[in-house]
Amino acid sequence: MQAMVYRGPYRIRVEEKDIPRIEHPNDAIIRVTLAAICGSDLHLYHGMLPDTRVGTTFGHEFIGVVHEVGSSVQNLKVGDRVMVPFNIFCGTCFYCARGLYSNCHNVNPNATAVGAIYGYSHTAGGYDGGQAEYVRVPFADVGPALIPDWMADEDAVLLTDATATGYFGAQLGDIAEGDTVVVFGAGPVGLSAALSSWLMGAGRVIVIDHLDYRLEKARTMAHAETCNFGEYDDIVVHLKRLTDHLGADVAIDAAGAEADGGFLQHISSSKLKLQGGSPVAVNWAIDSVRKGGTVSIMGAYGPLFSQVKLGDAVNKGLTLRMNQCPVKRQWPRLFEHVKNGYIRPSDMVTHRIPLEHIAEGYHMFSAKLDGCIKPLIVPSAS
Ligand SMILES: NC(=O)c1ccc[n+]([C@@H]2O[C@H](COP(=O)([O-])OP(=O)(O)OC[C@H]3O[C@@H](n4cnc5c(N)ncnc54)[C@H](O)[C@@H]3O)[C@@H](O)[C@H]2O)c1
Ligand SMILES: [Zn+2]
Ligand SMILES: [Zn+2]
Repeated sequence: MQAMVYRGPYRIRVEEKDIPRIEHPNDAIIRVTLAAICGSDLHLYHGMLPDTRVGTTFGHEFIGVVHEVGSSVQNLKVGDRVMVPFNIFCGTCFYCARGLYSNCHNVNPNATAVGAIYGYSHTAGGYDGGQAEYVRVPFADVGPALIPDWMADEDAVLLTDATATGYFGAQLGDIAEGDTVVVFGAGPVGLSAALSSWLMGAGRVIVIDHLDYRLEKARTMAHAETCNFGEYDDIVVHLKRLTDHLGADVAIDAAGAEADGGFLQHISSSKLKLQGGSPVAVNWAIDSVRKGGTVSIMGAYGPLFSQVKLGDAVNKGLTLRMNQCPVKRQWPRLFEHVKNGYIRPSDMVTHRIPLEHIAEGYHMFSAKLDGCIKPLIVPSAS
């Protein structure tokens, strides 16, 4: 089969690999019909994540058709159209029993923190991902769900990560009726968080980025106010002005480890690897919420420490909440919102790229070229 293969930072190739085999009676093999590149894949692409091994296949946002099932799989049969959450999880451990699917203890030998994620380095379990024609899905009775007949493929694929994560980000913000929510990052996660904030009762939603074409999307798709941080000496001061000098009630970091806006932070994280990611967006979030406010962190960071303003967060009495999204937990409500037309994930799709050309897709998404917001990957056999 054809699969995206990592050859080192900024080096992606499409290579022939064996079609994955059933390795455990609980496995299924899925023929991928649609995948996506996530902002998290860019951290891998840029060589930010430890133990990203050459030869692995990325891709944790995908849907497909069941090609083969292991002998103990009961809920799926060959030919079923399925969506697969980006987390691999067992469904029964201490953490899964509490809905913390992204922290499953049975799927990753390094599972002291994160559980397992398809195609997300050996730090997240070392499983190959879905930017390929086929992918092995462990615990096939637990993670995947049948795609409802009424749901379009391009909506379903984004519910396996970007949209679910944005929704989760708003949820962790504990938004109260009328709250002002500020979202850092107008990528697919930030756009979804902004839109979801309204569904949770926000009275005002402000999105921050420095890419005007994405801020435009935040206005049209998420009905948000927007600010380009590149136009202000100090975006935090500007946000204070916009919020009666108190600050927002809730801030959501949807930018993550490679946030721009701080040259030294960028050099010390991306280039020198002295910290687990640039804390610019998370520090702006801490600074721009009011005392007693909540900061929800959806942006991904490496396991090393980052220079986060913890003292200010303590002294302001903030609540900090964060996790990798436990995707399947969000699906019952998200299915309703998509069915009722409140959320249309496919609105964010800007590119549909054949798997053979995935290297160009990575380059375009990474460099934010051609108005790229969300690139989908289409395997040729689909
Ligand atoms: N927690 C989870 O479960 C989870 C799931 C998916 C993605 N993520 C993470 O969420 C983040 C966003 O993902 P995405 O797919 O939307 O990525 P993306 O790269 O498309 O979007 C990130 C956006 O942040 C903007 N940005 C950069 N610096 C900023 C700053 N200082 N302030 C405000 N905006 C800034 C960029 O211009 C870009 O538009 C990534 O770090 C990704 O790894 C986490
Ligand atoms: Zn992702
Ligand atoms: Zn588990």
